[in-house]
Amino acid sequence: MKDTTMNDLLKRIECATRSLFDGESSGHDINHLKRTKNLALHIQEIEGGDPLVLAAAALLHDVHRLKQSQTGVFCSPEASLPQVLMILREAQFPSDKIGKVLHCVQYHEEYSFSANGRTVDDIETLILQDADNLDAMGAIGIGRTFLFGGAHQVPMWAPEIPLPKRDTYDEETSMQDPSVLHHFHAKLLKLKDSMNTATAKQMAEQRHQFMERFVAEFIAEWRGAR
Ligand SMILES: [Fe+2]
Ligand SMILES: [Fe+2]
Repeated sequence: MKDTTMNDLLKRIECATRSLFDGESSGHDINHLKRTKNLALHIQEIEGGDPLVLAAAALLHDVHRLKQSQTGVFCSPEASLPQVLMILREAQFPSDKIGKVLHCVQYHEEYSFSANGRTVDDIETLILQDADNLDAMGAIGIGRTFLFGGAHQVPMWAPEIPLPKRDTYDEETSMQDPSVLHHFHAKLLKLKDSMNTATAKQMAEQRHQFMERFVAEFIAEWRGAR
């Protein structure tokens, strides 16, 4: 496929997604989708996979979050597939690749560390998971997590509540983490060891170290030790 055709297709999808996500400010906004796309394409250059499928899936992966933030009730990626399909058809996305995009969207949150433990093995979904998780780490990850906490009236820290001991992670119950710092321990600090590709593992290292420094500094300041 020519670069211009691919760019036109992606522009149409981005345009449809942008209007859908207009007003969304809880960290799963159009900028998260665009950063995820850029991260996915960067990883794809090294690891392989279909760039068009990946870019489209990255732009559409969090349509389920929209419903979730509108209703306040957990909405699975699978439930967003009819809407994703409609956007792809309206953008005249190649029909032989639509199934692949839907697959990536459906399974992008089913990590090896998820409570239901399903793992995927196609390179596009593996890269999409990595890109999505990288955007939840580092300086951007910290910013997004506090934004999410603010949007859901979750306090920054609740030191009287013990930190989570669980090893697995469940998107549904994570909405109930008692504080933003609890969410760091429940999910964000585990992401480094959950990367699928060698490229993402390397990229995750610096972001992880930055988050660890941030958490240590936060706790020290909270206690008045700085
Ligand atoms: Fe998602
Ligand atoms: Fe996402």
